[in-house]
Amino acid sequence: MRSTTAAVALGALLATVHAAPKPDVDESYPYTGPAVPVGDWVDPDPNGNGKGFPRLVEAPAVTPSSDNLTNNVNVIALSYVPQGINIHYQTPFGLGEDPSVNWGSSADSLGKKATGYSHTYDRTPPCSMISAVTQCSQFFHEVQITGLHPSTTYYYQIPAANGTTASEVLSFTTAREAGVDGEFTIAVLNDMGYTNAGGTFKQLVQAIDDGAAFAWHGGDISYADDWYSGILPCEDDWPVCYNGTSTELPGGFPIPAEYLVPLPEGEVANQGGPQGGDMSVLYESNWDLWQQWINALSTKIPYMVLPGNHEASCGEFDGPNNELTAYLVDDEANSTAAKSTLTYYSCPPSQRNFTAYQHRFRMPGTETGGVGNMWYSFDYGLAHFIALDGETDFANSPEWPFIRDTKGKHQTPTESETFITDSGPFGDIDNYTDTTTYQQYKWLVKDLAAIDRQKTPWVIAMTHRPMYSSQVSSYQAAVRAAFEELLIENGVDVYLSGHIHWYERLWPLTGTGAIDTPSIIDNNTYYTNPGVSMTHIINGMAGNIESHSTLSTGQSPLNITAVLDFQHYGFSKLKVINSTAMSLSFVLGQDGSVGDEVTLLKKGSGSSSSTSTSSPTACTASSIASSTASGITTGFASTYTPPPYVTTTTEVVTAYTTYCPGNTVFTQGSSTYSVTGVRFHLMSSVSLVQISSDTNNITSPPPSQSLTAPAP
Ligand SMILES: [Fe+2]
Repeated sequence: MRSTTAAVALGALLATVHAAPKPDVDESYPYTGPAVPVGDWVDPDPNGNGKGFPRLVEAPAVTPSSDNLTNNVNVIALSYVPQGINIHYQTPFGLGEDPSVNWGSSADSLGKKATGYSHTYDRTPPCSMISAVTQCSQFFHEVQITGLHPSTTYYYQIPAANGTTASEVLSFTTAREAGVDGEFTIAVLNDMGYTNAGGTFKQLVQAIDDGAAFAWHGGDISYADDWYSGILPCEDDWPVCYNGTSTELPGGFPIPAEYLVPLPEGEVANQGGPQGGDMSVLYESNWDLWQQWINALSTKIPYMVLPGNHEASCGEFDGPNNELTAYLVDDEANSTAAKSTLTYYSCPPSQRNFTAYQHRFRMPGTETGGVGNMWYSFDYGLAHFIALDGETDFANSPEWPFIRDTKGKHQTPTESETFITDSGPFGDIDNYTDTTTYQQYKWLVKDLAAIDRQKTPWVIAMTHRPMYSSQVSSYQAAVRAAFEELLIENGVDVYLSGHIHWYERLWPLTGTGAIDTPSIIDNNTYYTNPGVSMTHIINGMAGNIESHSTLSTGQSPLNITAVLDFQHYGFSKLKVINSTAMSLSFVLGQDGSVGDEVTLLKKGSGSSSSTSTSSPTACTASSIASSTASGITTGFASTYTPPPYVTTTTEVVTAYTTYCPGNTVFTQGSSTYSVTGVRFHLMSSVSLVQISSDTNNITSPPPSQSLTAPAP
């Protein structure tokens, strides 16, 4: 029998409290772990006493007016809904009335009132067990204001209720209407968490000050499920072991003094933060900590999210002879289990099946035909953004529903047939082995078909999982099988992802994973090629407790990789410049500098159009495999002014694509071209291919070089 964890005793305090419709949580088998799992053997008190793992504190969204607190607004997060905004806010206890905001078009005129609904779940531990009222959230409130003007700033205030303090007068700005011209920038981030993400956070705040319209976080949000980092000793293959054996940090940065502070007696060196595992030793407190940190963003701009694997449950995996299994399954602290027997039922019910994720955000799934926070879409100006669930709800998804545990035989597996991350489905499924029968896929088909490319020429999709990477993994084939053909067929321009904890820009790739060489203008500029290829960015470098991903010893990046950086943390700025140009840039958390940038251009967008069919002129480098005429059609030769960050000098070369795996110089007509660079680089400062000519005005038919790169 499936029952909802939201079925808590709410008492008379709440007015309209909705139980979450999905996901529900299965409790067919009892939970046998500790009442409150705490990732600290020395101090397993949920409140902590600061001895071993001092609890980190982030300010609440609303500064309370009283010392004798009973309730407080700790988190406020904005998100877009069509023609409006959703104001989500969080309190430890109920409001005793429907949540509301007073709002208006100026800060001193809040004459309108909007009301909404509240929801909750049976979090472990409940906020009644947490002594700091300003550091816990268990009741979640949604107030929508719709029918608003686009690109307009409104003001609002959350009134006091049941012990809370009224918020300050805050503001939000509605989305630019679809089809309205004009440059805009958004922040795209993935795999953030709290530890290691300080630089990213700082630059994100700066991005808001610089005018970023919204943030889009593609999964692996708070890393709440790493609550147990403080009780699992370092493994040899972990890149960093804090307060233990490692004296190196990713990026080679100076080691802060706190990293060298010896751990208190009894604590184990681990993958946790500077003081050990002090990201937090509680699953739910990690969520609270992170969300309160992000108030600096989410109270100012819409903070859009999609699911990642770290949102699924209280843990992901474990091996034999491990501490976590003994703790969660047998309620034995500081012990080991002979073998891994973690199942779906090993987590407290409230920490299964994306429960916290579903409550702690409010995305426009319902309003856009999608499902909750799992998949949805929205427009902003010249772009259509598609958020997909790369974790569940497609064939061979990385996390999966019970029907797959039983191989389709029945819906209810035995306890041992389940896995700790079993999740979903969040939509309907007719045949779990066939993605086309999934509600998510059907929705995507419809969503793509409904795009008006005259209004939103740019279409950007994101899931948490990459389709391709130099770090190859089997889930990538499943994601490709589910979505790749559909996205390419419909001319999606960019596919963003995370999951792998580095920045990796790929060459534009066709649906077979081949490099679309004719679409490479130079190292930092691609043509879009609707129906043929997409640009892929793996953007998983925001921070997080698990540190960077790395290549194995002796491993080289694949040839599909144009840029790979596993030394810096940061995020990406996505800038839509106009209907034919956009850019993606990697902003380094350490100083805000740009680590990499690629500009995407649409062909045939200018006042005239021409097709080059000139014979290719081969680079002289012997390592070039072959060359063919590119036949690129482009029309911007006479009118295009490259943005200042496009460094090539080939603006009048209308059909020039070069992919040279080595340094070379060659002559074409009266011009001499130098091509320098390496095929990939680990640092961002090296340009792959730099092209220069001794003239800025090539009047003869331009050289057309398309050098076929080897298949990955
Ligand atoms: Fe991930």
